[in-house]
Amino acid sequence: MDPTKAVLPPPGSTFAQSVDPLFNFLIIVAGIFLVIVISGVIIFSVRYRKRHGVAQLSAAPTHNTALEVTWILIPLVLVMIVFLWGFKGYLAMSVVPKDAMEVKVTAQKWFWSFDYPDGATSVNELVVPVGVPVKLLMSSKDVIHSFFVPSFRLKRDVLPNRYTIAWFKSTQVGEYNLFCAEYCGTKHSEMTGKVRVVTEREYNDWLASSAAAGEGIAPAEYGAKLFVSKACHTCHSVDGTPGNGPSLLNVYGHEVKLSDGSSVLADENYFRESILNPRAKVVIGYQPIMPTYQGLLKDKDIDALIAYLKTHSDMEKEPGE
Ligand code: CUA
Repeated sequence: MDPTKAVLPPPGSTFAQSVDPLFNFLIIVAGIFLVIVISGVIIFSVRYRKRHGVAQLSAAPTHNTALEVTWILIPLVLVMIVFLWGFKGYLAMSVVPKDAMEVKVTAQKWFWSFDYPDGATSVNELVVPVGVPVKLLMSSKDVIHSFFVPSFRLKRDVLPNRYTIAWFKSTQVGEYNLFCAEYCGTKHSEMTGKVRVVTEREYNDWLASSAAAGEGIAPAEYGAKLFVSKACHTCHSVDGTPGNGPSLLNVYGHEVKLSDGSSVLADENYFRESILNPRAKVVIGYQPIMPTYQGLLKDKDIDALIAYLKTHSDMEKEPGE
């Protein structure tokens, strides 16, 4: 049985071939030294314990050349093996293949968004064709996050004001967990997503359906989907429970009190402004932490979200009617 099976998730990218053997080597070497050191501690403390009638101290040896050379050479060889092995893997991870498809990754509190070459976008779900090298051009809109896909053996920090680059080549169709691996505030632990590796054909279908999203279904129904897929629901409930943002139950058509003491009627334009420029009118009692959705939502998406929020209001009629 491979003891590391319990530690590393099943591999999903080509990096596993180089990372996993090194990881196993480190575990095994560390295990061997753990046994040697702990047995030494136990054996010596029993053997050289204080006994009655035995002279207290004998003179300590000053040095032992053979022993000292051994305890320098063995660790030196071991760490050089780890260094060279790791450096080889690091190079492979750093050099992006020329034919890689590029996806722009944007991290912000507290979700991931992805922009694909032909204009498609997605939130918290990266969709890629299997076996195609994918280059990730990553940046953050606020604090440091870290893009971590354990199955791909891939982790890289995502910084504000600077691009970081990572790449991977998936080996199997499937769904893989995506985590944020850098503490980034209240909802860091919920900043998760999926990498969905699909066949080339499914990928093309997905691109096409993403372009046509929302056509053929009622706006409110499409809005309900967006509310989840664009991660609105991570901060806003629609049942009255307050979260990081105010609940959106019974907001449409009502007066909303703002943090500057004024109030505003929550109509379509208020919703639109709050989606695109969330810090313009902040609800009293809440922090101005919502990121802008400018560029992430098309007009028809915003229309659909508003239609959905209207279904959660007791004032579905036009305000003032
Ligand atoms: Cu983003 Cu932790």
